[in-house]
Amino acid sequence: MKVVAFNGSARKEGNTTILINQVFEELEKEGIETELVHMAGKPIRGCTACMECFANQDKRCVIKKDAVNEYIEKMIDAQGIILGSPAYFATVTTEMKALIDRVGLVAFANPGLLEQKVGAAVSVARRAGSFSVLDVLNRFLLCFGMYVVGSNYPNMSIGLDIGDVLKDEEGIRTMKVLGGNMAGLLKKVHG
Ligand SMILES: Cc1cc2nc3c(=O)[nH]c(=O)nc-3n(C[C@H](O)[C@H](O)[C@H](O)COP(=O)(O)O)c2cc1C
Repeated sequence: MKVVAFNGSARKEGNTTILINQVFEELEKEGIETELVHMAGKPIRGCTACMECFANQDKRCVIKKDAVNEYIEKMIDAQGIILGSPAYFATVTTEMKALIDRVGLVAFANPGLLEQKVGAAVSVARRAGSFSVLDVLNRFLLCFGMYVVGSNYPNMSIGLDIGDVLKDEEGIRTMKVLGGNMAGLLKKVHG
């Protein structure tokens, strides 16, 4: 079983990565394979609304010059998907929004693409905006027949500088519980 996580932050080794790795630790304890994909440094463009994915129905986006099809492949191959984004002006990063729009349209054009996968959203903010981020990410996950996992508090933490989230004990605990819950659900659905 495998979980792939997408880090939408502009910082590869920032707080979002630290939080996702906390979730990964718990998944790995349960023997679940993990892969972290950094979206930083590999620009992807937004959806052009060409609607070719509906005509082709080949589980691909017609825009071939960026990594979106590689990301779709990784999602298809995994049983679990984590979307992580810091709050940028109280919403997801530009990279994460582009991913949602591009993958989302391909998933609508190819019914069942993400069905019954286990999904989770993770967010971090200096102070405000994580609820909006989780709202955007969860709405995406809930659109395609995925099972969305929670923790014992919303899947968020606080921090500005890299490493700040490690001082947020409750946030770290939330990620660990999320990892345990995700492992449990994955085993029930795909074990
Ligand atoms: C362009 C930009 C916009 C941001 N907007 C917000 C915001 O709206 N609310 C907030 O609390 N923090 C905001 N922040 C702070 C980040 O959410 C915070 O530094 C977070 O820890 C970054 O996560 P990362 O280390 O994974 O990149 C912003 C940071 C940047 C670079």
